[in-house]
Amino acid sequence: MPADATATDLHPGTLLRELGPNRLCGSIVLFDRVDSTNGAAMRSALPDATGGTLFLAEEQTMGRGRAGRSWTATPGKSLLFSLLLRPPREAGGLTPLLAIAAAGALDESCGGVMIKWPNDIFIGGRKAAGILAESREGMVALGMGLNVNEVRSDFPPGLRAAATSLRIETGRVRPRGELLVSILNGLADRYGVWCESGLEPFAGEIERRMLFIGERVLLESGSESFSGVMRGITGEGHLRLSIDGGERIFAAGDLSLRGGDA
Ligand code: BTN
Repeated sequence: MPADATATDLHPGTLLRELGPNRLCGSIVLFDRVDSTNGAAMRSALPDATGGTLFLAEEQTMGRGRAGRSWTATPGKSLLFSLLLRPPREAGGLTPLLAIAAAGALDESCGGVMIKWPNDIFIGGRKAAGILAESREGMVALGMGLNVNEVRSDFPPGLRAAATSLRIETGRVRPRGELLVSILNGLADRYGVWCESGLEPFAGEIERRMLFIGERVLLESGSESFSGVMRGITGEGHLRLSIDGGERIFAAGDLSLRGGDA
C-alpha cells in the first residue's frame, strides 16, 4: 500500500453509525483485496436475498468497467464500492441517481462536478469516477470507483491526461469514509422517490449536471455511430438525441463532443 494511502479511514462500524436512519445498507463487507466489489455483490445476488449489503474494497484485482473494460485503482486511495439492492423497478435509473448523489457529495469539496452520460463523473474536464450497475435475480449491484487521493503519477501513463482525483483537483487528502457516507446518504435521500416515481423528479437536477447538453455529439453504439444534438435523458436514464429533425433514444453507447453547430 502506498505510504500516502489512507487505508485506515474505512471502518464498517463507524460507517454504519454515520449513515442516516433511512440508510440503504444494513451491513458492510470490507475487503483488503477482492477481484471486484461488483463481482462480490453479484455472487450474493441469490433468489431469496433481500439486498442492503455494501461491498467495499481497499484493492481490486479485476475491477470491471462498462462494456467489458477494466477499472484500475491505486490500493488505499480510491473509493471502490458496490451496493446490492433489490429495486422495485427497472434498475437503469440507478446509475444517474448515484451519479447525482456523488456529484452533490463532491460539491462539498470542489466546483465543476459534471456527469457524462451514461456513467461517468467528470471534474474539470477529466474523469474522476465511473459507475457500473449489473443485474441478476432481480437484484442490482450498483458499483462506483471514485478517485479520491491519487496523485497524477498514480495513474497509468496512458490515463494521466484523461483522469483526475479529488486530491488533484483540490490539493487536499480527503478521508474516504466521510465522502462515502455523504454519497450513500445522498443516494438514500433520493431512493424512495425514485422507487415511487422513477427518474422524472430528478430530470432537472441530472440535466443541469450533464456535459454536452445542447451540443452536437457523436454517439458510438456497437458498430454504429450517430451524430446529433444532445437533449437530455428519459425517465429510464436513456439518452435523447435530436437527429435530422427527429428525436432518437439510446440505451447505451460512448459519447464524445463532435463540435459544429447545434
Ligand atoms: C466505468 O467507468 O466503466 C465504470 C467503472 C466502475 C468501477 C467500479 S469500482 C467498484 C465496482 N467494482 C467493479 O469491479 N467495478 C465497479
